[in-house]
Amino acid sequence: MKKHNFSAGPSILPDVAYQNAAKAILDFNGTGLSILSISHRTKDFEDVLNSAQALMRELLNIPENYHIYFVGGGASTQFFHIPANFLGKKAGYVNTGVWTKKAIKEAKLYGEVEVVASSEDRNFCYIPKNFEIPTDIDYLYICTNNTIYGTEYKSDIDSPVPVIADMSSDILSRPIDVSKYAVIYGGAQKNLAPAGVSFVIIRDDMLQKVVRPLPTMVNVNTHVENNSMFNTPPVFPIFVMNETLKWIKSIGGLEAMYKINLEKAQILYDEIERNSLFRPTVDQPDRSLMNICFVMAEGKEELAADFLKFATERGMVGIKGHRLVGGFRASCYNALPKESVEALVACMQEFEQLHK
Ligand SMILES: Cc1ncc(COP(=O)(O)O)c(C=O)c1O
Repeated sequence: MKKHNFSAGPSILPDVAYQNAAKAILDFNGTGLSILSISHRTKDFEDVLNSAQALMRELLNIPENYHIYFVGGGASTQFFHIPANFLGKKAGYVNTGVWTKKAIKEAKLYGEVEVVASSEDRNFCYIPKNFEIPTDIDYLYICTNNTIYGTEYKSDIDSPVPVIADMSSDILSRPIDVSKYAVIYGGAQKNLAPAGVSFVIIRDDMLQKVVRPLPTMVNVNTHVENNSMFNTPPVFPIFVMNETLKWIKSIGGLEAMYKINLEKAQILYDEIERNSLFRPTVDQPDRSLMNICFVMAEGKEELAADFLKFATERGMVGIKGHRLVGGFRASCYNALPKESVEALVACMQEFEQLHK
């Protein structure tokens, strides 16, 4: 049976990335060696790394005064790298759920944290808006897409202080204005690569803003100065990331990707609104294109386990919602084909017929 992979992360990647990764595991670039077993100092791998950086720069239209590096440790490592480097006295955080809460906890180890806005009052089902950004903070921290709750910022914030953004789960899903951010980072295991590598996009002036002496691996300068090669970078995830980036370029870049993502999300949100058995959990303007959350309609809650079983039997994978929200979450990352969304919608309609 065909599987439709709605997993929240690690998640579906483009077919061509799987195919080229499989080939490279057996023979990387005609070297007669596996990508899993080559030195990261070889020219062949340096070409992969440089290509991934160049493609990311091209696709996101990253200005020249920004650096890009790749590093292990996942996005959670950046939760403390960011304040270690940049929190001198006080930082501002917008609390939009679990991932910002974790980042806030780490930041408090380094200085004062002002939560400048929060959507905790309604279990993080919206993105706070029109909040005032203090000018006495070292940076403003946001998470642009909240993977667990399915909320997403729809525009880049204007801020009098440097903005630092966790874009783990919506990077490269739509065009953004990179110049509005001082640092953008994320784990790559949703839209880009298998788990194991994070990307960091950092404005040049931030390199001089490191506020304290730091262990070498924590200091952002180390990774920029050594072009991601201070230590052994995650070679295989970077290889796959490069393949994914090539695929995004081949389909027309971020404008094209955004159009496809809008269409997929529209199909699913329309069905959630229409279907008498389901309802969305997120306020309309803040609904994520990547993580689409929904629950059973009022009075139909007892059907949740049945629907999960029904959908699983029809090939849907990873649609159980996070325990903090309940219900269902269909992650519709870049590589998820429209056919998978249509299959889920067909499943919801069939289930509705059975329970009329
Ligand atoms: C938005 C966001 N930030 C951070 C993380 C943590 O990433 P990692 O597991 O790479 O540390 C996740 C994981 O799902 C996430 O969705």
